[in-house]
Amino acid sequence: MAEFKLHPSILSADFSQLDRQIHEVESCGADGIHIDVMDGHFVPSITFGTPIIKAVRSLSHLPLDIHMMTTHPEKHFSEFTTAGADSITVHYEACPKLKDTLVELGKFDVRKCVALSPRTPIENIFEIIHMVDQILIMSVEPGAGGQNFIPESLMKIQSLSKEIESQGLSIPIQVDGGINPDTTLEAVRSGANILVAGSSVFNDNFSVCDGISKLRNSSL
Ligand code: DX5
Ligand code: ZN
Repeated sequence: MAEFKLHPSILSADFSQLDRQIHEVESCGADGIHIDVMDGHFVPSITFGTPIIKAVRSLSHLPLDIHMMTTHPEKHFSEFTTAGADSITVHYEACPKLKDTLVELGKFDVRKCVALSPRTPIENIFEIIHMVDQILIMSVEPGAGGQNFIPESLMKIQSLSKEIESQGLSIPIQVDGGINPDTTLEAVRSGANILVAGSSVFNDNFSVCDGISKLRNSSL
């Protein structure tokens, strides 16, 4: 059985039932909760920020993983950490001075993570991987749930996995976008350690627990 951690993304949750859905996520064995912050600038949509992070923190003990699809993410590091973030992910494409941004993030009691959009070559981050605790490979264009997994992402995961090893490091690779029972196994075989799943967990056609079980069973 391929081992991986599963972080459901609340982007696809039913916010009128957030309390119940977060409890289901926790009781059905998820490993963390992924919170997509979008600013209407780096990506067209606007989602949520501190109040939702605080609300989810009050509902769950699971690690909260904040995916910042925003420009100037550093403006919110302090607030998000206080609200209960366990890890904060900034986008390579949103940070013209990425090293400085990561140094700033390092001042907070939170795991430092960087994300790459599908069109960004993986080699672009090789020189900074020693500065982060986790790397997120986007397997869809950032900004919306329910898109199809981009197959070329698998090569990026493989190259990154090799590079991490060749630098003598041990850094988890997270994959986000289009994760479903058909894409899980290949992503994990390519080297992904943490899978983010939105619409294949929060879906009108099945329960949160069924969504999680289908993903877990697909890697058997
Ligand atoms: C997209 C977000 C994802 C999103 C994934 O920009 O970063 O976290 O929730 O949704 P699915 O799993 O439906 O592709
Ligand atoms: Zn995300």
